[in-house]
Amino acid sequence: MQSEGTYMPEPFRIKMTEPIHLIDAEEREKALKAAGYNLFLMKAEHIFIDLLTDSGTGAMSHTQWAAMMSGDESYAGAQSYFRLKAAVEDIFGFKYFVPTHQGRAAESILSAVLVKENIYVPSNMHFDTTEANIRARGGRPTNLVNDDAFDINSLHPFKGDLNTQKLEKFIAETGADKIPFGMITVTNNSGGGQPVSMANIKAVSAIYRKNKIPFFIDAARYAENVFFIKTREAGYETTPTLEIAREMFSYADGMLMSAKKDAIVNIGGLFCMNDGALFERVKTELILREGFPTYGGLAGRDLDAIAVGLYEGLDEDYLRYRLHQTAYLANELGKAGVPILKPAGGHAVYVDCRAFLPHIPQQEYPGQALAVELYRVGGIRGCEIGTVMFAHPDPVTGEMVYPKLELLRLAIPRRTYTQSHLDYVVRILAQIYERNKELKGFEITYEPKFLRHFVCQFKPL
Ligand code: F0G
Repeated sequence: MQSEGTYMPEPFRIKMTEPIHLIDAEEREKALKAAGYNLFLMKAEHIFIDLLTDSGTGAMSHTQWAAMMSGDESYAGAQSYFRLKAAVEDIFGFKYFVPTHQGRAAESILSAVLVKENIYVPSNMHFDTTEANIRARGGRPTNLVNDDAFDINSLHPFKGDLNTQKLEKFIAETGADKIPFGMITVTNNSGGGQPVSMANIKAVSAIYRKNKIPFFIDAARYAENVFFIKTREAGYETTPTLEIAREMFSYADGMLMSAKKDAIVNIGGLFCMNDGALFERVKTELILREGFPTYGGLAGRDLDAIAVGLYEGLDEDYLRYRLHQTAYLANELGKAGVPILKPAGGHAVYVDCRAFLPHIPQQEYPGQALAVELYRVGGIRGCEIGTVMFAHPDPVTGEMVYPKLELLRLAIPRRTYTQSHLDYVVRILAQIYERNKELKGFEITYEPKFLRHFVCQFKPL
């Protein structure tokens, strides 16, 4: 199903439209310069097809919009909160939860409560904001994904799996007392949107539990991960997605979720846990930073949209189409000879920029070079996931540590673009690939201490 090139019709029809427009080449060049060649700093109106992120950029359903109209905006104890609570308990099954304004707010609160100087937090791969939140409090995020994840061509069905041998060794060497909690990210966004198998989640959970390390799932794209389990892992073919989700979370002590992905809303997050003492500390932090525990920095209507969206995100027609759309884009790019990370991820296709631009060294940001060219030629915005995002000085030696993968992510907003939009993206990327040797690298002219990719500025070499 997922590797076929034929396009499955969208399981929805469109009843509201939003115009998009391709500005001319000269205006695009001007816009690039004005943004210091950082696509995060561009005006959205200057973008034709926006594949920067799938986060908060999806289309809500008529049911979600209708639910928003019944949002209860009471400061405390709103009905919207209780509707969300019922959905969260039904799907995730944890004892306690708070809403947050987005995923990183949950990460910040968890880090504020549990991270100290020189502690370690293992995961398959942390997302950039998770990593930064841990680092910002002096902790050391540690990625222990299987080596397959770094093999662009490996067709392993669960390239997001955490290496359990590495984890056992890491805990033995570090000492469980230096690990306040462990994580796993589903799907593994930083490693190509690749799924994690149920068997792996179960095995990782057993290791964390044996060592009395609380286990939190970064569940941003858990529903896509659930559907990968259903279609790729033996024994789950006929299990409903809701049941697979429940099993997945039963192995964890809590979860953090950016609702902007698989709850298909424009803003929102969740933080769930089973530990009552932790919940008390989390509530205090939440009130300090986000809001009262029954709204967590969101409007009542946002809570209602999440409550409905959580179920829509698990709908099997939707998920089949969703993963098919990503596979379609990957397949068509593959046919055009464009090197991509295989297999297709859940939410995005990742172009392998080392293979695309073999003449540009990592120090000259090949992912950025391709991101800029894709905008210049087609008005398309992708996102560099490579040296700009992840290179950092080693905390001990001070030497720059470069990421193993140099990717350009083409993230697909949910229920937003159609096949013809994707065909256009393929056409433009294929054109650029034909003249790849003409592209040149970049130099960074300004960068802040954390999360530089959002605000740094570049100069073409
Ligand atoms: N975890 C993962 C796996 C993510 O992909 C993201 C966000 C977050 C946590 C943080 O959530 O944005 O709601 O604060 N990813 C977006 C992206 C930004 O483009 O992949 P947030």
